[in-house]
Amino acid sequence: MCGIIGYVGTQRAAPIIWDALRHLEYRGYDSAGIATISGSLKLVKDQGKLDEIAQKHDFEAIEGQIGIGHTRWATHGPPSQINAHPHTDCSDSIAVIHNGIIENYASLKDELQEKGHKFKSETDTEVVAHLIEEYKDDGLEGAFRKALERIEGSFALVVLDAKEPDKILIARHFSPLVLGVGNDEYFAASDIPAFLHRTNKVVYVQDGQYGVLSKDGIKLKSISDGSEIKYEVTEIKWSSEMAEKGGYDHFTLKEIHEQPEAISETLRSEQDVEKVAEALLKQKRFYVVACGTSYNAGLVTKYLFEKFLGIPVEPVIASEFMQSVGHVVNEDCGVLAISQSGETADTLAALRLAKKKGAKTFAITNIVGSSITRECDFSVYTHAGPEIGVVATKTFVTQLVILYLLASKMAKLLGKDIDYTQALRKTPELIEKILRSVEDEIDELAKKYYKCDNFYFLGRGISFPAAAEGALKLKEISYAHAEGFAAGELKHGPLALISKSTPVFVLAPKDATYAKTLGNMQEVLARGADVIALVGEEDAHVKKLTKKVFVLPMLDEYLS
Ligand code: M6R
Repeated sequence: MCGIIGYVGTQRAAPIIWDALRHLEYRGYDSAGIATISGSLKLVKDQGKLDEIAQKHDFEAIEGQIGIGHTRWATHGPPSQINAHPHTDCSDSIAVIHNGIIENYASLKDELQEKGHKFKSETDTEVVAHLIEEYKDDGLEGAFRKALERIEGSFALVVLDAKEPDKILIARHFSPLVLGVGNDEYFAASDIPAFLHRTNKVVYVQDGQYGVLSKDGIKLKSISDGSEIKYEVTEIKWSSEMAEKGGYDHFTLKEIHEQPEAISETLRSEQDVEKVAEALLKQKRFYVVACGTSYNAGLVTKYLFEKFLGIPVEPVIASEFMQSVGHVVNEDCGVLAISQSGETADTLAALRLAKKKGAKTFAITNIVGSSITRECDFSVYTHAGPEIGVVATKTFVTQLVILYLLASKMAKLLGKDIDYTQALRKTPELIEKILRSVEDEIDELAKKYYKCDNFYFLGRGISFPAAAEGALKLKEISYAHAEGFAAGELKHGPLALISKSTPVFVLAPKDATYAKTLGNMQEVLARGADVIALVGEEDAHVKKLTKKVFVLPMLDEYLS
């Protein structure tokens, strides 16, 4: 994932682009670059984080009222000055930034090299600059469209050419790209926070579309036939402060503390959830598709829906959907996609396949107007506000809120006696309390464990998805190895990994799994592990086993 930004307007482009890159740095931070046009193409790029690069180059001094910028997260070619975007053609007139992967870049590169093109980088992106150059007799737009017809894979592309200095070309296929409509200025970016402080009017570019941005406005067209496409400008409700750190050291920290407010906002979706509940109950089979954190949230349906509703449900990792469920999904099925961004390519692909096979499609997302919501039959929103930290926190919790609401609404329709709505209303206050009370203890734990390489998380039943998510959070934030296990699986192999002082988080709420989980706690303690227990109430028994116990208030066995 990389951050991309394009600007055309009446102001100096470089300071605006530099500021946007700061808002996009969470998308990639191994190198960055800016290109503008002022007479000729001006290009500055380097390896490192933005602050490091800023010490070597004065990005903001670059002239020009049109430009593009990129923060990179390396896929093809290691982080280096040469591999940083923008990439240029042989004549250093065309500059390209890209998010995604050009799958056929190797064969295109061979073909272009045979024709005499000289490549500078190891990236897949550079072929796009040379392809456009190859077709330059068709003018920039014509050449760009021809290039788009040749490339395969996923892309959000933004292109400049010093020979046509008044326009930016953009295109999207399976990578997010959104346009901003400001006062006499236009933006293209991978994410709204890049330009949110200048405008909240957005245009969502869809797969298979390309476009031209100039001071006169935006034109969107179809890549396949070049026909012009009408588009809608959506006014989003986020304020620019929502995309700032608001006094916290990191966005993730801020977003963790935003959980109570985010949950309150999510609860506004109750009526939409009711519609989804009705439609879902009409389906004979039910799948959930998602990736990463959203998949971990989806795992909860396995416990909640099967126990309380008696409805079988199969959570599927979206990238595996095609090779498994893809063979049997049909018009009898309901497929629920969970995706914070509403843009994740694997989730979108699974949803499209399900739709093609006649399934009814549903979505839980955080982004109004995102691709997944546009393409599915029913959507419901988490309304958690922008998630800028790369690790999902408040959005995981709000996805769970929607799933618990959904289970409650479905139960009501089925005449069953479970309803989490009232209990959910109490969660913001409880979470606030927890966040206030644990800070010092967490600081202590961090100091003790920050050098450890391996962490394990154990949970049974409804606590298993939380264990999986805990491990995902820790590895993403700390770059340490972490695994979440269904605690009963320990004895089938993973126990071999536990040695003296290995930190093991054990989720041990007083529910039906409590006794068995305590057995697993004993097993790891017997191997010298350092157990950090998360329990639902004061627990003298657990306190005898380990000194590190977090008591987290439990509203209900299933709401731990
Ligand atoms: O936007 P999505 O929810 O579809 O994203 C899916 C995953 O990439 C995402 O949940 C990822 O695992 C988290 N950011 C991890 O914290």
